Amino acid sequence: MSTVIRNGTVVTADLTYKADVRVDNGVITEIGPDLKGGTELDATGCYVMPGGIDPHTHLEMPFMGTYSSDDFESGTRAALAGGTTMVVDFALPNPGESLLDALKRWDNKSTRANCDYSFHMAVTWWGEQVFNDMPEVVKRGITTFKHFLAYKGALMVNDDELFASFSRLAELGGIALVHAENGDVVAELTAKLLAEGNTGPEAHAYSRPSQVEGEATNRAIMIADMAGVPLYVVHVSCEEAHEAIRRARMQGKRVWGEPLIQHLTLDESEYFNPDWDHAARRVMSPPFRDKKHQDSLWAGLMSGSLSVVATDHCAFTTEQKRMGVGDFSKIPNGTGGLEDRMPMLWTHGVNTGRLTMNEFVAVTSTNIAKILNCYPKKGAIMVGADADIVVWDPEKEKTIAAATQQSAIDYNVFEGHHVKGLPRFTLTRGHVAVHDGEIRTQEGHGKFVAREANAPVNRALSTWKELTAPRPVERSGIPATGV
Ligand code: URP
Ligand code: ZN
Ligand code: ZN
Ligand code: ZN
Repeated sequence: MSTVIRNGTVVTADLTYKADVRVDNGVITEIGPDLKGGTELDATGCYVMPGGIDPHTHLEMPFMGTYSSDDFESGTRAALAGGTTMVVDFALPNPGESLLDALKRWDNKSTRANCDYSFHMAVTWWGEQVFNDMPEVVKRGITTFKHFLAYKGALMVNDDELFASFSRLAELGGIALVHAENGDVVAELTAKLLAEGNTGPEAHAYSRPSQVEGEATNRAIMIADMAGVPLYVVHVSCEEAHEAIRRARMQGKRVWGEPLIQHLTLDESEYFNPDWDHAARRVMSPPFRDKKHQDSLWAGLMSGSLSVVATDHCAFTTEQKRMGVGDFSKIPNGTGGLEDRMPMLWTHGVNTGRLTMNEFVAVTSTNIAKILNCYPKKGAIMVGADADIVVWDPEKEKTIAAATQQSAIDYNVFEGHHVKGLPRFTLTRGHVAVHDGEIRTQEGHGKFVAREANAPVNRALSTWKELTAPRPVERSGIPATGV
């Protein structure tokens, strides 16, 4: 039986127009005026948009001696409550573990998902096994591989490993992702701060100044350029990193930047709150920054030099955060945001006039669907697309509160923020998971979204490729040798 979304205004990344939308068997089958028949969802006064895609989550992730507290069930329930209909989580191999074994663990966890999902694969160590596993991972529809330049002694990879992995990805048509912070400098600053008696959560911010992010972003861009691989920089939080991305894009390099809703709306003053718990709950990497950096991120979204707004949802309870009492470096890094990304961005982006509604759709859904190669199955209101739809009520308001959230943790970093613009309905492949404020998710409804590799080219590298093509040099009197 059909579902028909009636009397709404369709908003896509390029168009705004009045139309009804029919859904059959999880797919959009008709878009047009006055569609009749089937179960009606009243969208009067609402915008009918592609459901959000959050390309950066850590659900039930083993990290810093514990596990993040939202799993695929609570995490995707929170996502749907806020209008997000697909998440992309990071499969994280243990040191020495094969990528395929890590993938098995993520396959098992994700069977509880309420909405569709995909994975990125993390390259947490380097060796023949990883090199050999990569083609099979790509064959299974995972074409994006994350590298941590931070977390020395745990997840960090060195530059030689980075270049080897990037080069392999270039051959396979994958995309390299980086967490860009200079892990060596962070480790030095951390040791110095602790030795000087700076043990509180504010020292976490001191240990990760914007320069460590700017340096690592520039380095990753240059190494990606030499390897010939497209690069996606996760959680861009500062002007230095944004500047590097902006410059690379203007040079024609395939580089994308992803700011988080947290960095766009919360600043470093959170770490100076006298309440230890308040500050520790907001410890994440990179840390929240001052207004100059926030303005840069907003400018990036407005000008198109930054492409995607994500959450890096990695939620720890207050009790877990207290593992770092007396030593900030032991506070599990991460914050939540899955339920709040869309309402917060609408409130602070669209309602303030910084973003158009079409730009909102682009940065929350369509751009990442294109980058990840799952457009227009996802990220589109189009006949044939999956019916991942949010019916958005621009007049609906609430004050964000942990007491009413779906996430399993006991606080919310946006507690007390007032938002205007919320889902009236959220549909995941046609199933109405949010119905006028009521949550009707179905555990296990979510399916894995496989993605195809791109053609293995980065056209911006043509000059470099010519320069490095092995070509013997002829010199009179000297025998030619290979380069
Ligand atoms: O602090 C953060 N961002 N925690 C999650 C892991 C990561 O670095 O993305
Ligand atoms: Zn990260
Ligand atoms: Zn992350
Ligand atoms: Zn706010």
